[in-house]
Amino acid sequence: MSTQAPADAPKPPPPPNVIKIDGREIPYEPGDTIIRAAHRAGIDIPHYCWHPGLSVAANCRMCLVELPPPPGRPAMRLDILKWDAAKKDYVVDNKPKLQPACQQGCSPGMEVLSESSDHVAEARAAVQELLLVNHPVDCPICDQAGECRLQDYWLEHQRTGKRMQQEIVHKAKAQVFGPTIVYDAERCILCTRCIRVSDEVAKDPVLEIRERGNLGEIFVSPGRELDHDYTLMTEHVCPVGALTSTDFRFKARVWFLRSARTVCQGCSTGCNAYLDFDPRTNAAQRYRPRDNMEVNKYWMCDEGMLSYKHASAGGRVLSARVGGDETDLPSALDAAKSQLAKHDPAKVAIVLSAQHSLEDNFALVTLAKTYLGANSFFITGKRLGKADDILMSADKNPNTTGVVQLLAATGDAAKPLSDLLADSSAFDHVIALGSEVEVEVGDVLSGLRNKKVLTIASHDGPLARVARILLPATVWAETDGTYVNKQGKAQQSDRALRSLGDSVPGWLLVAKLGRALGFAMNWRKLSEIRRAMNTPTGAPEKAAVDNDGAKAGTEARS
Ligand code: SF4
Ligand code: SF4
Ligand code: FES
Repeated sequence: MSTQAPADAPKPPPPPNVIKIDGREIPYEPGDTIIRAAHRAGIDIPHYCWHPGLSVAANCRMCLVELPPPPGRPAMRLDILKWDAAKKDYVVDNKPKLQPACQQGCSPGMEVLSESSDHVAEARAAVQELLLVNHPVDCPICDQAGECRLQDYWLEHQRTGKRMQQEIVHKAKAQVFGPTIVYDAERCILCTRCIRVSDEVAKDPVLEIRERGNLGEIFVSPGRELDHDYTLMTEHVCPVGALTSTDFRFKARVWFLRSARTVCQGCSTGCNAYLDFDPRTNAAQRYRPRDNMEVNKYWMCDEGMLSYKHASAGGRVLSARVGGDETDLPSALDAAKSQLAKHDPAKVAIVLSAQHSLEDNFALVTLAKTYLGANSFFITGKRLGKADDILMSADKNPNTTGVVQLLAATGDAAKPLSDLLADSSAFDHVIALGSEVEVEVGDVLSGLRNKKVLTIASHDGPLARVARILLPATVWAETDGTYVNKQGKAQQSDRALRSLGDSVPGWLLVAKLGRALGFAMNWRKLSEIRRAMNTPTGAPEKAAVDNDGAKAGTEARS
């Protein structure tokens, strides 16, 4: 008799892609390791060497879990010597062979014991103790204190005093690896994350490990420095205080910092970032990448990481100026009213800024088209710069696409600033956003010298210098704003800092200017202008704002 099922018999359903961790069912995707599935589900399996954006090294053993065998299969066990207190001697015993969750793949119905296994708890405590045997007690002076895995996991998985009484193995401290990174070999747990960031993210295998056991350390290839474009990512992934950034070292204690969800302003990639700032001093202290699988995954480039400094950089415009003299905002708006009285709409040039948010640009486009009747639009921003095929874009402006889309929706084209300078005799008035220009400074100063220029800017620059009336705008870190990256994704950046001086958001300055000119530009709250941006007034439909992309699961520690 044939044992084959008839051809048209329904196939049994494939086993569901589900595993159980400590009795909780979680789904997994084909190819997932246990830790990846757990990470996606928000379950934290302790780990040092594993990182969701890097290959698996499986060298720290902090992620060990117990895998009870499926029914009918023998358990894998490990022979051990166990201390017998009664006999006062070691006796032969065995225990389950634990597996690294970062390397073990998932299979249907797999049972995983993590927090619920005494064997796992014992193994994690032992790994933790081993890592701390030669670790210096640097916490009071270590920059990682407060966000160090050794500290966190000691509390969560060890909580015992040190048994080793001998002097620790000393190694070199504060080795300069390159312009941005300093290495402390004593603190290093040899997880190799920094090596893999250089190999796999920056594509520059400049770091390696030498020696073994307690003599092991990371070193830079002879004749080289750690100087690729993603060096700060080595510090970012270092789970302990072995790699520190030259910029952030000894600057702040992390427990005093707060974080705002921002978008990097360094280029048109629009990497998602946390801006860490000290609310006591109102100072930005550093950027950290914010995971977004559709934009920057887990990473940022060095140029972007250091661009947070622009928030507190000098050269700010902190009060209104009329004819070069400081004044208050109402007086400057009065002067603007006089300057724009009886303007000829055909002779008004509007300069939008790819450095400014969609809200600021939308407000200026609305003032120009709806109220002033102006239809000549130009766009400016920073010059082109370095690009790569990892993250960095040549366009060093966060919102070029947003401005282009804004104008396209109204049927207008964004001409470069150089076109305005070449044809400046056609205009009497210029209303400009921003301070950065991609053309020669001298060309702006001479080309617009005799024009009635009104500029809204946060920093000094050629368009501020040539302005008869200058209105003080906040920087991106002092206000909420929307930026459209080169993929066309509209992303919101949240306010971190209190605004300085008399500065207010650019869109609010435009609304105040409109009201001073007698127009009904009644936006006073961010929600009001955002609502206006979504209304069919000739402005573009705002793309669904998406700050998180495929961020699921990244709440767990990476
Ligand atoms: S320096 Fe940090 S990231 Fe690199 S191996 Fe040591 S502990 Fe790991
Ligand atoms: S690639 Fe661009 S957006 Fe991303 S961190 Fe670098 S400068 Fe910022
Ligand atoms: S061995 Fe799995 S995280 Fe290190």
